[in-house]
Amino acid sequence: MTPTEQSARALAVCRLAPVVPVLVIDDLAHARPLAEALVAGGLPALEVTLRTPCALDAIRIMAHVPGGVVGAGTLLTPADVRAAKEAGATFGVSPGATDRLLDACAEYDLPLLPGAVTASEIMALLEKGYTVQKFFPAEQSGGAAFLKSIGAPIPQVSFCPTGGIGLKNARDYLSLKTIPCVGGSWVAPKDAMARGDWAAITTLAAEAAALRA
Ligand code: 3PG
Repeated sequence: MTPTEQSARALAVCRLAPVVPVLVIDDLAHARPLAEALVAGGLPALEVTLRTPCALDAIRIMAHVPGGVVGAGTLLTPADVRAAKEAGATFGVSPGATDRLLDACAEYDLPLLPGAVTASEIMALLEKGYTVQKFFPAEQSGGAAFLKSIGAPIPQVSFCPTGGIGLKNARDYLSLKTIPCVGGSWVAPKDAMARGDWAAITTLAAEAAALRA
């Protein structure tokens, strides 16, 4: 899959809802009810970070939840890309971008949101054809003000910013034309997951889904 095709597919995922939950799953038993709760609240696109031992198995389970579109986050290596694809991920997210990672996503047909922060990083990805990128860590890197500024000289790149975003500041990002969605972990708090309080997570998801209602 070419970078242009990857970007088109990644953009379609980003347009499903204003927020993509960034999920860190410690307990495999949480995978199905968590995905069901988020989808029920109106957030179908789900990013499972490959940061815990059960993450790939969680993707395997969540890929079968009706209405869910499950991707793998924290892709760092070609092996991560291959494992994510085999587990059933339909998109990938990386905090940055290396040639080996980009090549692996092309080889394994996994649409990628590659990460960039600086003008040169954004331009290097744009040169290769990646018009949809992750901006991480968003708040720490200049936030919505930075993305507004970079959108003047480089309006052809869209971003999914993540890192430090919550209900309080999501609208600052979503009001920009270049931002189809933001990513964030706030819709799946660890304490609610530990309690099995899936109704609370559906409520958080519904609030997030309404950010651009
Ligand atoms: C991440 O990769 O950890 C995401 O950017 C989530 O950041 P957050 O926990 O600040 O939402």
